[in-house]
Amino acid sequence: MMNRRNYNEEVMIIKTTTIRIQDNGPYQLEGKFEIIDDTGERFEVESSVSLCRCGYSENKPFCDGTHEVIHFESTPRVKDDLMVEV
Ligand code: FES
Repeated sequence: MMNRRNYNEEVMIIKTTTIRIQDNGPYQLEGKFEIIDDTGERFEVESSVSLCRCGYSENKPFCDGTHEVIHFESTPRVKDDLMVEV
């Protein structure tokens, strides 16, 4: 169960983390957080990391640049009705 203090701390973490969807490339995450895979393995991120979006990285979940070799194409945009003021 989350108390108010924990809730506020979690909100603070969200505000200091940015996820940018790079056109034709990876998700670029900036901030201080951890990534946990489905087996429970944890990876601490202190500043930034790129996660594979094309599915062809040899170092998943991280991007290894293969998206450029395979000419991955994807340019998703947030729909206007889903935009949030920050
Ligand atoms: S997005 Fe870079 S290797 Fe997949």
